[in-house]
Amino acid sequence: MAEYTLNINGKPHHVDVAPDTPLLWVLRDHLKLLGTKFGCGIGQCGACTIHFDGIATRSCLIPVSAAGSKSITTIEGLSKKQDHPVQQAWIEHDVPQCGYCQSGQMMSAAALLKQNPSPSDSEIDAAMSGNICRCGTYIRIKAAIKTAATKS
Ligand code: FES
Ligand code: FES
Repeated sequence: MAEYTLNINGKPHHVDVAPDTPLLWVLRDHLKLLGTKFGCGIGQCGACTIHFDGIATRSCLIPVSAAGSKSITTIEGLSKKQDHPVQQAWIEHDVPQCGYCQSGQMMSAAALLKQNPSPSDSEIDAAMSGNICRCGTYIRIKAAIKTAATKS
């Protein structure tokens, strides 16, 4: 076990865990930030997507020992009042079905729009291709990203 101070959603969080513990489990099991989901655990589904220094990152693949002082943002910290343009567009387009994949989808979308405020269809497809939705909400996700792009 080792002690770490993680910079999550703008605040320091102290944990005492094994160095190889995936960040996903630190967020969920130790800090009860349950918005970040476990899907595959091997970097293939995107359900666990967070922002790591602003970059959309699979938290299941990051050992806590690699976090250092990097700025970590989870869906809980994407906005103070759930009013990020992506969150508003998700509501407007009624995107979720079961909802399980959606925090990861929104984190990927928000990171895309931060880097590229006006993405083309192919740029949206490329940025979102690693986020799987078993309910098939892809058409609404894409429409919501386009709406959010007009407000970002
Ligand atoms: S749980 Fe991390 S990519 Fe699937
Ligand atoms: S909304 Fe059900 S998996 Fe995406």
